[in-house]
Amino acid sequence: MTSLSITESSIPDLTGKTAVITGGARGIGLGAVQVLLDHNARVFVLDVLPIADDVAASKVTFIQTDTSSWLSLVDAFTAITTEHGSKIDIAIANAGVWNDPYLEDCLTPAPTDAAGWSALKDNKPATEACVEVNLKGTMNFVILASKVMKTQEKGGSIVVTSSSTAYFAEQQMPVYTATKAALVGLVSALRSTLPLHKIAISAVCPSAVETAMIPTMFIEALKGLGLPIATTRHVGLALVYSATATQNRRVEDYGKDKPVPEDFEERWNGRVIHAIGEEYWEVEEKLAETRGVWWGEKNLKLTEKQRVVSDLREV
Ligand SMILES: NC(=O)c1ccc[n+]([C@@H]2O[C@H](COP(=O)([O-])OP(=O)(O)OC[C@H]3O[C@@H](n4cnc5c(N)ncnc54)[C@H](O)[C@@H]3O)[C@@H](O)[C@H]2O)c1
Repeated sequence: MTSLSITESSIPDLTGKTAVITGGARGIGLGAVQVLLDHNARVFVLDVLPIADDVAASKVTFIQTDTSSWLSLVDAFTAITTEHGSKIDIAIANAGVWNDPYLEDCLTPAPTDAAGWSALKDNKPATEACVEVNLKGTMNFVILASKVMKTQEKGGSIVVTSSSTAYFAEQQMPVYTATKAALVGLVSALRSTLPLHKIAISAVCPSAVETAMIPTMFIEALKGLGLPIATTRHVGLALVYSATATQNRRVEDYGKDKPVPEDFEERWNGRVIHAIGEEYWEVEEKLAETRGVWWGEKNLKLTEKQRVVSDLREV
């Protein structure tokens, strides 16, 4: 993995730039909002919760939005682009929940009679919220942001908040883990096509961050062991960096891609930053580089050939 140095001075002046962020009312999202504001961006916050008064007094427009609802998301994008007549340079899909009693549901014994099974019909698994917000809400947000950015001369950058659980499964959180891994899959699947439309997409995977989402007991246990806990500002910086940085090589070539020229420069794309404690690490390039080791050299060659066949892009 590659260590990254990201500081306040890594973020450019964002005067004239507009950012839209979900889940920006508190926690990591609020951390990113504060970074964006400190660097002079205009910010739209889409959240189910209202924003604090001191944030509302700044260059922030709050639009109450439930990202798990397609209609609510479409209303929010309508308001941003028509009512406010705004473009979108940066779109950050950050809203998430971690209510995940899936394991408990799996291990609760089956009913023993028809009446018990019937009662189960009215008991939808509570983990659906995790899928609706973390996965479907993010996927739908990416669709709407891409639509807007595709119409813009300069395109834009989309960043997704995933989680370290995407790479390091958390046994108590199977569905949360699955949704966050799916987001990394989404980013890596889109990284070779969206840039053809001047749209970059990347993700940030935080390890533990002290927010309302994480039970205090857990945070205290980590602190007790001296394990790293990131601040919301630290992760916010990684999110904004991902939306504003550039790269001079791709994570990997896909299908019919030709190697990039020496003077290559494009928006930060297809990468995942792991934010842990006070550090940042880029994960995807090393994973791509070592495919031969963990996928097998022979299988790598076969899969690469398969990708050339299924590559429908005109590159
Ligand atoms: N805190 C951590 O340790 C940690 C670690 C890895 C990843 N993450 C991820 O970071 C993101 C932010 O989490 P956080 O720790 O700041 O939690 P948080 O609970 O403090 O903030 C989450 C925000 O998302 C909003 N939200 C939730 N559901 C929503 C919906 N349906 N529509 C709109 N807004 C909604 C909440 O109102 C809240 O403002 C999440 O995607 C989470 O999975 C957090």
